[in-house]
Amino acid sequence: MKITVVGAGAVGASCAEYIAIKDFASEVVLLDIKEGYAEGKAMDLMQTASLNGFDTKITGVTNDYSKTANSDICVITSGIPRKPGMTREELIGINAGIVKNVSSSLIEHSPNTIIVVVSNPMDTMTYLVHKSTNLPKHRIIGMGGALDSARFKYRLAEAIGGPISDVDGMVIGGHSDTGMIPLTRLATRNGVPVSEFLSDERLNQVKEDTKVGGATLTKLLGTSAWYAPGAAVSGLVQAIACDQKKVYPCSALLDGEYGLNDICLGVPVILGKNGIEEIVKINLNDAEVASMKESAEGVQKVNNLLEL
Ligand code: 2OP
Repeated sequence: MKITVVGAGAVGASCAEYIAIKDFASEVVLLDIKEGYAEGKAMDLMQTASLNGFDTKITGVTNDYSKTANSDICVITSGIPRKPGMTREELIGINAGIVKNVSSSLIEHSPNTIIVVVSNPMDTMTYLVHKSTNLPKHRIIGMGGALDSARFKYRLAEAIGGPISDVDGMVIGGHSDTGMIPLTRLATRNGVPVSEFLSDERLNQVKEDTKVGGATLTKLLGTSAWYAPGAAVSGLVQAIACDQKKVYPCSALLDGEYGLNDICLGVPVILGKNGIEEIVKINLNDAEVASMKESAEGVQKVNNLLEL
């Protein structure tokens, strides 16, 4: 199993690290445009192998896509991250050109690859990869909901005052401060609805804190977060590489599902060796359906800025 991660910045390097630590891939290629940078990160990570107990071979390359040839899965993290006060949407001007070039270079050397898009604005970048590559739609997956759901679980556990392993919940919709839909109605604490433990007011606070999860960290760190994004990507990559058939909310190209068409938005999907094996249709109530529609409208506005 060969995996390429494009972009050796904080998010890309964290992806490579978590993938390696989970030890399910034979090889991870880390690629960056900055001379020697990916090579350095790869070498540093390889020097953790005996300490962390993994056998995955990580190599770094400077912009040489021939070294990524025949990758089973490619992760695109390239582009600029947001700075404090910026929305993910403001990155479109620079990141669209980068993501388009990166995806075509990857496919040139790995025509059968599955692509995981992380670059922001993620739902629009995922749509761009669909439109510019024409790969079958199950082979292009946007990473957002897995990260947002992890942040949701963190906030739920904090509010409940219990361990994160006891809570479950999912965030669907767009990967943006206004577009995320944390499904509080379906969240549970060990199988019991969280509404049994938290007031409506507290649940609403959890929802709002989840939606600005990335912005909160960007303000604290001065740049966007990397540990949780890296871990979320590694989860998706492992589900595909190990054919786990796990359910994750991911940005998928919709063709009528949830009443939406020709847009990439976060919905629950089953991930396995073919990428998106199925889009799971859950029954949303009227308010959640209205939120999905509003979220889609927000993503569509950003998609309209693309030059396709
Ligand atoms: C985040 O939310 C990187 O979009 C990513 O942290």
